[in-house]
Amino acid sequence: MRTADLEEKPRRVGSMFNRIVPHYDLMNTLMTGGRDRAWRRLAVSMSQPAGADGLDVGTGTAELALELRRQGARSVVGVDFSWEMLRAARHKTSASDTTTAPLLLAGDALNLPFPDQSFDLVISGFVIRNVADIAQAFHEMRRVLRPGGRVVCLEITHPRPGLFARLFRLYFYRLVPLLGSLIARDFDAYRYLPNSLTSFPPADGLARLMEGAGLVDVQYQLLSGGSVAVHRGYRA
Ligand SMILES: C[S@@+](CC[C@H](N)C(=O)[O-])C[C@H]1O[C@@H](n2cnc3c(N)ncnc32)[C@H](O)[C@@H]1O
Repeated sequence: MRTADLEEKPRRVGSMFNRIVPHYDLMNTLMTGGRDRAWRRLAVSMSQPAGADGLDVGTGTAELALELRRQGARSVVGVDFSWEMLRAARHKTSASDTTTAPLLLAGDALNLPFPDQSFDLVISGFVIRNVADIAQAFHEMRRVLRPGGRVVCLEITHPRPGLFARLFRLYFYRLVPLLGSLIARDFDAYRYLPNSLTSFPPADGLARLMEGAGLVDVQYQLLSGGSVAVHRGYRA
């Protein structure tokens, strides 16, 4: 990616996420037919949360952060660079007991505001496709992990070529932007969503990027016809 794009992408992505907050959860439910909750539950369980200190990078409306608490994490921090997302997350989590609510902080996935070895697990959901430098994001995730800690990455991916892939493309590239303009009144944001997948590496390539960042024993599971992947790697 060119230097200009590296500087421009965070600004563009941040302002888009600020805009779509009011309809964000509803759009996720509609676009995925409610499957996103099951994907999140699985990703959280793969992060082995019981008794762990967890970080949710790009927490958005704090769905993964709250699921980490439900599945027994000892403490959870959610970080995001969109103020509007953080505001929605704070509103949603304010119903939780303050001793168990996730701590929500502003921060950039490419320069996490935490010392080395602060967490037992780092999770992200539908974030890594949006960052300007994927390798740097994984480096940062590994840096803040304690030895034996795990990075779990839940993300849309490219289904293998075939009938499902053709139907998925039709749905994702044609119908999702229409749904976005109808429900969220934001065609551009929901055209960005499929476009952000076009240049995103396939699941194998993402696993290699995680290994390149120093994570070991990297494996992934494909879900929903191969259109979603959950990757996991460890800090040795
Ligand atoms: C598609 S939303 C996903 C939200 C949430 N993780 C979920 O599972 O629904 C992507 C989120 O990542 C955040 N994000 C994107 N790039 C980021 C970065 N470089 N640093 C921090 N947050 C980022 C956006 O602001 C947005 O809230």
